[in-house]
Amino acid sequence: MKIILLGGPGAGKGTQGDFICGKYGIPKISTGDMLRAAVAADSALGRAAKVIMDEGGLVSDDLILDLIKERTSESDCERGFLFDGFPRTIPQARGLEKAEITIHKVIEIAVNDEEIVGRLSGRRVHAPSGRTYHIKFNSPQRAGLDDLTGEKLIQREDDKEDTVRNRLGVYHEQTKPLIKYYSDVAAVDSSLDYIKVDGVGSVEEIRRKIFRNL
Ligand code: AP5
Repeated sequence: MKIILLGGPGAGKGTQGDFICGKYGIPKISTGDMLRAAVAADSALGRAAKVIMDEGGLVSDDLILDLIKERTSESDCERGFLFDGFPRTIPQARGLEKAEITIHKVIEIAVNDEEIVGRLSGRRVHAPSGRTYHIKFNSPQRAGLDDLTGEKLIQREDDKEDTVRNRLGVYHEQTKPLIKYYSDVAAVDSSLDYIKVDGVGSVEEIRRKIFRNL
């Protein structure tokens, strides 16, 4: 099973992606997590990406496509995978087709902008694993600490309100066109399901809505 999770920043892609990957026993491929790992390692890629990510912009399509081709050729991807935060532009979607990676399901999680700003200001992350919490809506068992490792949670640099608004602008301009792109493909290609879920509600409600459609 090969799945794309589509949605704005903070729509809940990472949160719901973990549930879906658990159901199908497939890895989650988050380009955001991969880039943050490169930043933490202070690699050449990480240094180039950090400036763009801190402003809420998008890293170049070629660079992202190289990362994706390398990652999907690893052995744990043989049974499928879930893309979280990729593709994010029409050229990235076309690059996927060119690489002959066939997608079975596109799941859109739809959330309005004001809800997103509220969510991201309360997000806390376990940086090594990418596990995500929210101080109000999805709190860890012990405040400020990861449930599995007990390590400290952090707030992402790009979760400041100004940067979140920039990220939303970039989403509307460059990523939202993918909704029409994949809806149009699904309308003529029965091997692709396009699933749209209203992403406002509790984490558990959204999980149930998605699972009902899978
Ligand atoms: P990335 O890490 O992909 O960020 P994003 O798409 O903006 O998505 P987020 O991780 O912010 O949100 P999410 O939808 O996963 O929500 P989450 O589940 O955490 O990308 C970061 C940057 O990297 C980009 O800006 C760009 O610069 C670069 N980049 C990455 N991929 C790229 C690509 N393909 N091309 C070019 N550049 C790329 O939930 C958010 C919060 O809400 C959490 O606190 C969560 O607990 C809470 N929450 C979740 N569900 C609910 C709910 N139902 N109700 C209330 N709260 C909820």
